[in-house]
Amino acid sequence: MKTALEFKHITKVYRNSQIEALDDVSALIYEGEFITILGSSGSGKSTLLKMVNRLIEPTSGTIEYYGEDISKQDPVMLRRKIGYVIQQVGLFPHMTIHQNIEMVLKLQTKDTKSNTSRIIEMMELIGLDYNEYKDRYPHQLSGGEQQRVGLARGLAANPNMVLLDEPFASIDAINRLRLQQDILKIHQSAQKTFLFVTHDVNEALLLGSRVMVMDQGKIQQFGTPKEIISTPSNEFVGKLIGIAKQQVEVFTR
Ligand SMILES: Nc1ncnc2c1ncn2[C@@H]1O[C@H](COP(=O)(O)OP(=O)(O)OP(=O)(O)O)[C@@H](O)[C@H]1O
Ligand SMILES: [Mg+2]
Repeated sequence: MKTALEFKHITKVYRNSQIEALDDVSALIYEGEFITILGSSGSGKSTLLKMVNRLIEPTSGTIEYYGEDISKQDPVMLRRKIGYVIQQVGLFPHMTIHQNIEMVLKLQTKDTKSNTSRIIEMMELIGLDYNEYKDRYPHQLSGGEQQRVGLARGLAANPNMVLLDEPFASIDAINRLRLQQDILKIHQSAQKTFLFVTHDVNEALLLGSRVMVMDQGKIQQFGTPKEIISTPSNEFVGKLIGIAKQQVEVFTR
């Protein structure tokens, strides 16, 4: 198996802060894995993710993308290779939905026709009718719809690696279930590596080929859903899994 990403002793202390947002994080991620990063608020999940496309720089330690230290790479080039989908969506307000998705495609080709067919394909994937939505501006969409467009944009350029930071947070339960299935399909259809942040235990266990459990800036456990459920490595992980089991009991009662 090819190593796609490696975190080597990553530590982060933000300016004006005493605490370590990340505390000696090391991990190896293989090409094609679907990694879910699970942890409570403030555990360092987004900090870790944003380091991969250099939106945040580590205080110490290195990150290697396919064996190359990313601190020595042009951030703009790096970001072209790595898709990024965030909860806050980040659509450009002065651009239509079509233009928002098109912008990531234009970096690769100016062929308007093929770009448009890709946009139509991506809109179909996220369940929004192209003709209905293409000329609308982000503020003319609901929060959940905007989030889905953000997902379409992050995947449109067919990047090798995709970073997803709570991409389904403001999507209702039914659409969320559908998107979870869709994203698994998207992942399986290509050799892509996904890093997916969530604070939903069930979502993490459902989607992840491996789950990275974080608390207080440290990896508490990194293993397959099976391993995490059967042998939680400490009390914190045990409690999380306990919550997931309780939820399942409620649903099946
Ligand atoms: N720009 C910043 N300046 C100072 N401290 C920060 C900054 N961004 C994050 N932090 C701190 O770093 C820690 C980790 O934050 P991070 O955003 O990575 O958490 P998270 O796991 O993504 O949480 P959430 O689930 O709430 O999104 C927190 O204690 C937070 O207060
Ligand atoms: Mg976060």
